[in-house]
Amino acid sequence: MDKAIDINELLKTMTIEEKMGQLMQLIPLFYDSSKSGSITGPLSDLNMDEDMIWKSGSVIGVTNAKDMIDIQRIYLEKSNKKIPLLFMYDVIHGFRTIFPIPLGMACSWDLDSAEQLARITAIESSLSGVQVTFSPMADLVRDPRWGRVMESTGEDPYLNGLFAAAIVKGYQGNLDDPYNIIACIKHFAGYGAVEAGREYNTVDMSDHTLREYYLPSYKAALDAGCEMVMAAFNPIHGIPATGNRYLMRDILRKEWGFDGPIISDWASIEELIKHGVAANGKEAAILAIEAGVDIEMMTSNYINNLKQLIEEGIVAQVLLDEAVLRILKLKEKFGLFENPYKAADPEKADQTCVCEEFRQAAREISAKTIVLLKNDGILPFSKDKKVAIIGPHADNCGISGNWRALGRADETISLYAGICNKIGSNLVVMEKGCEIAGQNENDFVKAINVAKEADVILLALGEEQDKTGEAASRAFLTLPGVQEKLVDAILKLNKPTAVVLFNGRPLEIKSLEEKVPAILEAWFPGTEGGNAIAEILYGDVNPSARLTMSFPYTVGQIPVYYNSFNTGRPYSEGCADPVSKYLDIPNAPLYPFGYGLSYTNFEYREIEISKKTMNQEETLTASIVVKNVGAMGGIETVQLYIRDLVGSTIRPLMELKGFRQITLGIGEEQKVEFEITTQMLKFHDFKGNFKAEAGEFLVMIGCNSRQVDTVGFRLNL
Ligand code: NOJ
Repeated sequence: MDKAIDINELLKTMTIEEKMGQLMQLIPLFYDSSKSGSITGPLSDLNMDEDMIWKSGSVIGVTNAKDMIDIQRIYLEKSNKKIPLLFMYDVIHGFRTIFPIPLGMACSWDLDSAEQLARITAIESSLSGVQVTFSPMADLVRDPRWGRVMESTGEDPYLNGLFAAAIVKGYQGNLDDPYNIIACIKHFAGYGAVEAGREYNTVDMSDHTLREYYLPSYKAALDAGCEMVMAAFNPIHGIPATGNRYLMRDILRKEWGFDGPIISDWASIEELIKHGVAANGKEAAILAIEAGVDIEMMTSNYINNLKQLIEEGIVAQVLLDEAVLRILKLKEKFGLFENPYKAADPEKADQTCVCEEFRQAAREISAKTIVLLKNDGILPFSKDKKVAIIGPHADNCGISGNWRALGRADETISLYAGICNKIGSNLVVMEKGCEIAGQNENDFVKAINVAKEADVILLALGEEQDKTGEAASRAFLTLPGVQEKLVDAILKLNKPTAVVLFNGRPLEIKSLEEKVPAILEAWFPGTEGGNAIAEILYGDVNPSARLTMSFPYTVGQIPVYYNSFNTGRPYSEGCADPVSKYLDIPNAPLYPFGYGLSYTNFEYREIEISKKTMNQEETLTASIVVKNVGAMGGIETVQLYIRDLVGSTIRPLMELKGFRQITLGIGEEQKVEFEITTQMLKFHDFKGNFKAEAGEFLVMIGCNSRQVDTVGFRLNL
């Protein structure tokens, strides 16, 4: 087709059926004539005829270049207008080279790594025929019961925004490059706040909370150029997001000026009926199109109803035209009219996916995401000691986590394999002892006997990779099955014992903290997981990751997050009751936001601020000296928090406003400086104005949200 296509002219030539078709997304099965026998099923489910297939606009779920090329070719042959299909898929933390889950990746606090992994993901995806990924998920999360916290970058709006932007840049770069893919930020909006952490549950929050905490990360992704948005499943302010005009028309389109396509989530237009805001498909279609959803995923309420609704004058024709125009514009911008196959190339995909260069990147990134939670000095292990790896994750290749796209177990390095690679298999013994969630303790004896042979023990524990992610909420956050009992049996041997955890959410591990000498949080580390963990365990890489989501002391504390409020009766050591506290547990989480240990120690001193007052146009410099006082070189993440002491609304006890990662050799020190601007002090007041207010502020700098040095200043306006 001609490169300089005029989209507006094209629109004028389209029939209403062709327009509706652009709003429709189908699964690959529909186009594959070799499977025509099964077409009757899905087609009749959607209540549509075969002709509509050749008018459809996009496809969900093609995962290889050959299928994509075949489908696009058949479609272009059969379709009248020959507007190429757009191919979409969930590529969340890697396509075939799988990187750590996003919650782990965020613990690196390393935006370059996030961009790099998105770049590699884009290359593997584009070669395999994927053109749009439903990523990044920018939902802020505070409740680890929700299985999807694994897909988030954590509990902080500022950090989530930085990561969302870095990932968008990595996927999209410059869209002219054939190896780039389109990012689709999700789930708009507030999905991370489902009540009680129960999947698909209701969300209810004030506009203030929405704007202060939940919206900024989506906005940051759009500011970074993200081309698409997915509407969320959840209701918010009493209206399901997919039919919520306030979210999509008022905020997204009007306030933020976003003009790209909005896609529904899986069947979320049809679910407006189950939510009880639409009586039937017709009403669901009206709500969604009027709210601003352009593409319907998996259901057919638009194609079955829009024509009639427009003819009856119930839905304005202009709404359909605008939606089609947005989709066509994106196809044009992406270069689809010029080359409908983009980078899809089966042979090149085979040569490139999981190549050594990408594995190396995955190994390095993975090592940056592993958080040392506790160390009584037994780590790093010495390479000449015999190690017993005990536990259900000992030799498990299922450690990529949910949403692993085409990641393969037979291409994944287990913990056992990684440690053998590091110290040689003659020094490594291994026994599972139990299944991840099983109740059978019969194999404990075998595990104990194997552990007896070794000098040091590594307990490989955690969750099943598919028990995290979508539709994977849990009410108990302790280790599943009999894993704790296995820990107790092994600890009786009195040998140096460390735990490595594989999980997709902060777990309740108070009892491990009490009894195990060392704990390493590996998340689901991906294809190169075993090798990356071995780097850390044996001290070839000094752990540098820091938590971006608090680990609760126990489930009853949830939601527990660092940027909470003081209350009118704050608790402090020794204060008289009644105050805001629990009778039976501390207020503080087990491990706070920003927390993580290193094999070395960093000392903070001499916090300073350049001036004690600032006005609107001024900036201040806050600084601190950080020194490596331990016996190994290491990376420290120096964190800047600010507190607005008095505001017209309540203000959080602290908010992350900046951070620096510095590398310090033994004995080295560095003065770390942060510039403080009025912009950093702004917040949404009661009327929704985003502004800074005059008054006293605290600047806190430290190694995590609980260990900071403090200095104050005054803002005069
Ligand atoms: C449902 C999920 O909520 C969403 O994140 C995903 O992108 C879609 N399904 C498509 O698979």
